[in-house]
Formats: sequence, C-alpha cells, structure tokens
Amino acid sequence: MQPNILVTGGAGFVGSHLVDALINQDYNLRVLDNFSTGQWENLTHNNDKLEIIKGDVRDLESVMAAIKNVKWIFHQAGFVSAPLSIKQPQISFENNLLGTFNIFEAVRRQGSLARIIFASSAAVYGDNHSLPLHENLPCFPLNPYAFEKNAAEQLAVLYERLYKVSSVALRYFNIYGPRQSASSPYSGVISKFIDQLKKGEKLTIYGDGEQTRDFVYINDVISANLEAMKKVPPGAHLFNVATGKSVTINQLVKSLQKILKTVMAPQYQSSREGDIYRSLADISKISEQLGWYPKWDLAQGLSDWLR
Ligand code: UD1
Repeated sequence: MQPNILVTGGAGFVGSHLVDALINQDYNLRVLDNFSTGQWENLTHNNDKLEIIKGDVRDLESVMAAIKNVKWIFHQAGFVSAPLSIKQPQISFENNLLGTFNIFEAVRRQGSLARIIFASSAAVYGDNHSLPLHENLPCFPLNPYAFEKNAAEQLAVLYERLYKVSSVALRYFNIYGPRQSASSPYSGVISKFIDQLKKGEKLTIYGDGEQTRDFVYINDVISANLEAMKKVPPGAHLFNVATGKSVTINQLVKSLQKILKTVMAPQYQSSREGDIYRSLADISKISEQLGWYPKWDLAQGLSDWLR
C-alpha cells in the first residue's frame, strides 16, 4: 500500500512519537530524515511498518521524491536550538527556512493536494511580554531560529493565497518527554535536569529560578498534531500548543526531586543571556477551534515519563 503520510524528522524527538501514534492508527507512513540528530533507535520498533528515506529537507529533489502520493505531511525536521542558531545562523537558516520552503514548493510543483502540518515555536513571540501569549499578538523574533519559524509561518500564508497549499503551523511551547536529547548544553531544561539528577550531579539554575515556562508533555503535542489533521479545514492556520499554565524553574526542581527522591540543593548562577523571564500561552484558539485540551499537567507528565 502507498504511504499516505510523510513525517519529516521522523527519527527525532517529536517526529518519532508522531510515527508511533500514526502507526497505531494504521496509517501508512514514510519518514524523511537525514539522521544528523535523529536516531535510528527511535524507529527500530517500527522498522517493518515504515518506508524510511535517508534524505535532507534542504534538497528539493529529495523532498519531491518523499512527498509523492502522500495526503499529509508532518514537517518536524529542523535545526532545533534557538541559542545554537545564534552561533550557526547559516545552518539554522538552511534547515528551517529553506527546508520548509522546499516542502511547500514541492507540494506546489507537483500540484499535490497534500496538506502540511509543521512545527513552529513559541520563540516567534520573542520580545513580546503581553502574557498570556495569544496568536494575534505581534512577533518580535530575537534569534535566527525564531525569525526562521516566523518567516515559515508567513510563507505558509503566502502559499495558501497564491497556490492554495493548505497548512497548519503549530507553535510549540516548552516540550518535554521521553527521547528528548539530554546530552547537549542546549537541551531542554527538563531532560537536562533529569539526566543530571540520575547521575547524581548538581543542578544549575540560571537566575533566581522564578522565571516561568509553559511546559507541554509530548503526548499532548502529538494529540494536537492529530487533531489538526482531523479537524482543520483547508487554509493556512496557526495555533499555540501548550498547557496555558506556567511553572517556575524552582517549582520544577522541587517536583523532580520529589519524583526522583533526591534532595541535593541546586546551585544558582547568573541568568542566561537572552533568557525570557516569563512564558505562558493562551490556548483558547486551539481549544475553541479544534476542541483540543492538554491532558497532562507537569506532575502527570513527569510521573508518566519517569515511571
Ligand atoms: C525554549 C526552546 C527554545 C525557544 C524558546 C521560546 C527548548 C529546549 N528550547 O527555550 O528553542 O526559543 O523556548 O520561548 O525547548 N535553565 C536552567 N538551568 C539549566 C537549563 C535551563 O535554569 O541547566 C533555565 C533557563 O535559563 C530557562 C529555563 O530553564 O529560563 C528553560 O530553558 P530551556 O529548556 O533551555 O528552554 P527556553 O530557554 O525556554
């Protein structure tokens, strides 16, 4: 049977969870991944149920081949670190903006009716401090990564207007869950802290620890993607994906210490350059239009992950 869904970045953190969920629902899948950060291990349990293409979204020919005959494209491939994008703007630009352009352009060139659901980020709000962050607020990107995600969203609007390519941009807030990389200095705070606590290392909190984040569990991110596929009509759409609740880093550390039964006090260092102090999403748009609500609060998500 022909694959009817393509997942780019299917070997990565979000992509591989999407693959699991879609296979469970009996869709036929193709994965496009260059395996630069994606892991084969994330796919091995599904190997025989998938078509896997080792290829790069920066290459239009590879993308053209990968989108053949698919009805849905979940575009999760990309350069994932905002701070690293400041040090490596060209690689970030090529992966995130050229890569996303290639997806839209391949759909246009093939006259395909495929719809695109792609990963955007809360980073697009950047220097906007009007909490909770609603999709209608203006964006002030503060780094190449945020700029590229924001530009990709605008490209989606343009491709819908000019060529009737339909898409949904999902602005992910701070995602956490199994398979998230913990090994890099740019890893998300939760996976980094869990890794350090398990190794008995001291945690470092940047700043006073009273900064807040809207942490969303991977299972909720996957259900938001599935709802977008099932419920969004044609057009170019945009939704926050978050819980609508925020937690301080100090509270996060307490919750992790409780679950992992450790008491080692964290050390405090000066705040990270360019760190946003408060982040909180308004999720009324996705709730009203897609009937999507997060099912996992932080305590539930952490317990599920660490059980
Ligand atoms: C996250 C995204 C980033 C996006 C931004 C948009 C991740 C991994 N990054 O960045 O791509 O641009 O949202 O809002 O999801 N912290 C510590 N100690 C540590 C590590 C982090 O105290 O060892 C603190 C940070 O200073 C920050 C908070 O934890 O205040 C969250 O950090 P992090 O997980 O890196 O995510 P964001 O900076 O929110």
